Amino acid sequence: PAEEAPDMTVFPKSPVVLGEPNTLICFVDNIFPPVINITWLHNGNPVTEGVSETSFLSKTDHSFLKIAYLTFLPSDDDVYDCKVEHWGLEEPYLKHWEPEIPVPMSELTETVVCALGLAVGLVGIVVGTIFIIQGLRSGSASRRPGPL
Ligand SMILES: *[C@@H]1O[C@H](CO)[C@@H](O)[C@H](O)[C@H]1NC(C)=O
Repeated sequence: PAEEAPDMTVFPKSPVVLGEPNTLICFVDNIFPPVINITWLHNGNPVTEGVSETSFLSKTDHSFLKIAYLTFLPSDDDVYDCKVEHWGLEEPYLKHWEPEIPVPMSELTETVVCALGLAVGLVGIVVGTIFIIQGLRSGSASRRPGPL
């Protein structure tokens, strides 16, 4: 195979929890020739500590894959990039990653949830009232003989 752009995937080893040490994995597939630089950027700065990588793992299609690791402490405002330099790429390629921490309900969500709750409540009151009125009517006024 000719020089090709490798495929990259970046994902955390375990579910991200703020303040809980974790490992970022940069999975680089389809590497040929097996000459590559994989580095990590933390908020745009090269990282030298807590990084490691596997050797080239050969695949049946004669390309290679390599996995790079970065231990990190998830924090709200940190962003990471896995940077790959390869002859198949005109310039270094950065695969961006940042923690997706479930944000506390935004104000918009809260408003929507509140409005929905209110709507459901109102519908309940209306439906309830109708049932009560119907009940009163069939109970007192028209005791029509049922089919039974
Ligand atoms: C990897 O990095 C070294 C040192 O910065 C550089 O000389 C080399 O060209 C790079 N390799 C690739 C494939 O870009």
